[in-house]
Amino acid sequence: MDGNTNWRSGKRHCSVRFQWLLFVIMAVGCKATTFRDGDYIHSSRKAQFHQARTNWQDLLGQHCPRFGIDRLVAVPIPKPQLPFGKGDTYKLQFSFDGDRHLTPWLPLLGEGAPEVPLVRVTLRRSGEELLGASAEVVDAPPEYKARHPVLAAEMRNVSHWPKHVLVHYSFDTRNEVDLDRGLYLLFPAGLLAVLALCVSALRGVQPKLAQFLADVTSEGTTAAAAMWKGSDGKGE
Ligand SMILES: *[C@@H]1O[C@H](CO)[C@@H](O)[C@H](O)[C@H]1NC(C)=O
Repeated sequence: MDGNTNWRSGKRHCSVRFQWLLFVIMAVGCKATTFRDGDYIHSSRKAQFHQARTNWQDLLGQHCPRFGIDRLVAVPIPKPQLPFGKGDTYKLQFSFDGDRHLTPWLPLLGEGAPEVPLVRVTLRRSGEELLGASAEVVDAPPEYKARHPVLAAEMRNVSHWPKHVLVHYSFDTRNEVDLDRGLYLLFPAGLLAVLALCVSALRGVQPKLAQFLADVTSEGTTAAAAMWKGSDGKGE
């Protein structure tokens, strides 16, 4: 009776594990959105000023990155409700592909912000998948300032809203490299698993072997003892 319930709970435990594994496989499988070159990547932005943060706001298509295409856009940034003080900082965060990839908070105005900010967003892709996003704020190079004088003036003018921030999207393509790395990781992992299996199998066998040897010696049959000795001698 007791053994039966034990067996049952063991079986249930196993099926829960199996479901969990299935869930993980499905989660990994569902996670990836596939893109074709030129597809718009759904993007949102969130602003922080006066110690408060706005909600996520979707970007218009013309301000979104397009898969596999490096482009420069001018993204309008929301106006703070209160006048912008000296000690205030204005930060922006971007999210891509339905909030799957977030950038850090990027200072655009105030402390830590350059005179005319340029946000460099690097999107990592592999085949049809977007793997991740990273971003940094730099002072716009002189040729950018010369080419976009209105935007630069807007940025410097405290009372002018809405301002536009220059955002440069670039794609970092990594294809075969990742596959190779995956294989390199998988191979030792597989070897380790096999080794672990062998060790655990040996452990299971060991007590049985000891029992068998104990049985043989306790019986004291001369034939068995001779056979054992014989094989031992051959081994040496
Ligand atoms: C700053 O922006 C305001 C509002 O757009 C404008 O009236 C003002 O002339 C601008 N100041 C400068 C120095 O450009």
